[in-house]
Amino acid sequence: MYNYFSKLLFLSLYSPTIKSMKVIREIFGNLPGKADASLYTITNSNDVTLKVSDYGGIIQSILVPDKNGKPGDVVLGFDNLEGYLQDQPYIGTLVGRYAGRIAKGSFVLDGTEYNLARNHGQNHIHGGIVGFDKVLWQASEFANKKGAGVTLKYISHDMEEGYPGFLRVSVSYTLDDENQVCLDYQASTDKATHLNLTNHAYFNLNGAAAEIYDHELMIASSAYVVTDHDLIPTGEIGSVEGSPLDFRVPKLIGKDIHEVEGGFDHCYVLEGDGKEPLLAARVVHQESGRVMETYTTEPGVQFYSSNFLAGITGRGGIPYRKHLALCLETQHYPNSPNIPGFPLTILRPGKTYNQRTIYKFTTL
Ligand code: BGC
Repeated sequence: MYNYFSKLLFLSLYSPTIKSMKVIREIFGNLPGKADASLYTITNSNDVTLKVSDYGGIIQSILVPDKNGKPGDVVLGFDNLEGYLQDQPYIGTLVGRYAGRIAKGSFVLDGTEYNLARNHGQNHIHGGIVGFDKVLWQASEFANKKGAGVTLKYISHDMEEGYPGFLRVSVSYTLDDENQVCLDYQASTDKATHLNLTNHAYFNLNGAAAEIYDHELMIASSAYVVTDHDLIPTGEIGSVEGSPLDFRVPKLIGKDIHEVEGGFDHCYVLEGDGKEPLLAARVVHQESGRVMETYTTEPGVQFYSSNFLAGITGRGGIPYRKHLALCLETQHYPNSPNIPGFPLTILRPGKTYNQRTIYKFTTL
């Protein structure tokens, strides 16, 4: 007893993390005919604030101070749940079971053909009609010596959106005192299935004040997944050398964006070994002084310059439009279930799917 209380006292007096970090839950809104969705606010001792909802695992807001200490939101989002219930392109959401496109919405796994929801022309995208972005997750808050956050759990039933296997998924969002937002994904299944999870946050380090042309980007990759006119991977891996896709040396996004039809929407090949998160990308916004680094265990990152964003009004009445934000969706390559030779996306019973992705914020 004595030991327990003295340990608690010691932790509360000497652990800055435990002392400063807290998670506050509030009602975010009502899901028609269902339960209430909640919004969890986590604040660290540097005034960085992360807001996550159990509806769709949405990152609703990340407030980060600029070089003068003035906080600004570095992700697009909506003030209330209704904003997320409208037809909107995965703003801040989790994506699953499969991030990206699967050609013709079908694959053959262990000799059986599976037909998925075709929710993008003839193809399947981002998990189908009711993907992980549109379900209510079961949430629990935590605070430990690494930081504070929320763990979301969801059970996806056998054949949901056409995918085999009863799948248990868990995603933890942790904010720490090094201004890192860490996403830890885990999943297991009772039947072989395909799985490719990501988060679809749209970043703008300048509080969505203007298009991302003045954001400087580095992507630690010399190769990308070649796609056809429907953005379906052909199986070929291309070199970025000498093309507008080359971001190995930091470059303003606006420099070459108009050289690429529509803008950037490419999966870059990363060197990750699946164990330790490696630096995938760095975004620098000179004027605000905000910097974001992305680290991941995944073999790919989809750099999407919000080419199809249009027609919706976001936080603060800002019209959300083409090139207003960038997504760095850490993942396996699109259409992997149909392309032998791509890193495998199969999850088998008895195995655990693991992914760690970190978005780290600093200032110049
Ligand atoms: C895809 C885009 C798509 C967007 C919204 C991104 O992951 O690469 O092609 O328009 O998601 O669905």
